[in-house]
Amino acid sequence: MSIRRRIGAPVTWMLGPTFTTQYLPAWRARRRRTPYRPEQAWSARYAQVLRDSGLDDMATIQRGANPRLVRYHYNAVENALLEHVLRHPLPDAPSVLDIGSGAGHWVDFYRAALGAADVVGVEISAPVVEALQDRYGDAADVTVLEADITAPDAAFHRRFDVVNAVDVLFHVVDEERWLRALATIARHLSPQGRLIVTECVGLVSHDAGFRRPDADRGDEGGAGRSPHVVTKRVRSLRHWRQGAQAAGLELADTVRLRKRRSFSTPANRLMVFRPRPRG
Ligand SMILES: C[S@@+](CC[C@H](N)C(=O)[O-])C[C@H]1O[C@@H](n2cnc3c(N)ncnc32)[C@H](O)[C@@H]1O
Repeated sequence: MSIRRRIGAPVTWMLGPTFTTQYLPAWRARRRRTPYRPEQAWSARYAQVLRDSGLDDMATIQRGANPRLVRYHYNAVENALLEHVLRHPLPDAPSVLDIGSGAGHWVDFYRAALGAADVVGVEISAPVVEALQDRYGDAADVTVLEADITAPDAAFHRRFDVVNAVDVLFHVVDEERWLRALATIARHLSPQGRLIVTECVGLVSHDAGFRRPDADRGDEGGAGRSPHVVTKRVRSLRHWRQGAQAAGLELADTVRLRKRRSFSTPANRLMVFRPRPRG
């Protein structure tokens, strides 16, 4: 067993898995960042997925993930979402904007379980957009658009009862882009609308996903003192409240996801935001 593993195991036991998988790598990567290009990174990943195995929930989370854990994650998010809407019903036949649709899980869920009248799916990755447009080609109630929700010109020209973003906004690691995404979402909510976000919310905000630069995923650099590409940022609930406030939103509800600490699934909390009353 390597020294790192021998030291790592008791440290993980004492301080929890977040310490060794997130806080420590975040500290190591703090001055060695190289820019993350989400469009290139996601498109390269999905192009390969589509070549190898086809688009499914597993591929959106992590290739080679344990299928039962993936199922557990989606069930936990679905239950948290249902818990929220049972207490705070949605309007009949809501219109839904689904940001970062991936394999289309939430497009299907809002149509099948929540009676959505129409769902607009937005994806940054061109290969996914093509695959989803193919899949929903006959569904008049589904539209799939290629867009980066953080882009200054992101616009969908209408308002929605629900904007859904499951496991997406923590991949927006740049604070300015994250704030811009929240402002764009706020502009697309109807006055009684709600933004539903599910992801990992931390005690403190910190970078949480790291990898070495990979030219195939659009990264620059690879030389120097082992630079890292930061692919994920966990934000605290306080950070979320502040970001929401800057975008004209406020936290309306939150549901903790049922999850064992040892299960490495991407999300631990569902948050619901609504437009802040004016005046
Ligand atoms: C972890 S996957 C989650 C997919 C889906 N929401 C789900 O829960 O099954 C994140 C998705 O968000 C998309 N994405 C990442 N950044 C984005 C952005 N800035 N704008 C739009 N989509 C984005 C990625 O292409 C990817 O499909």
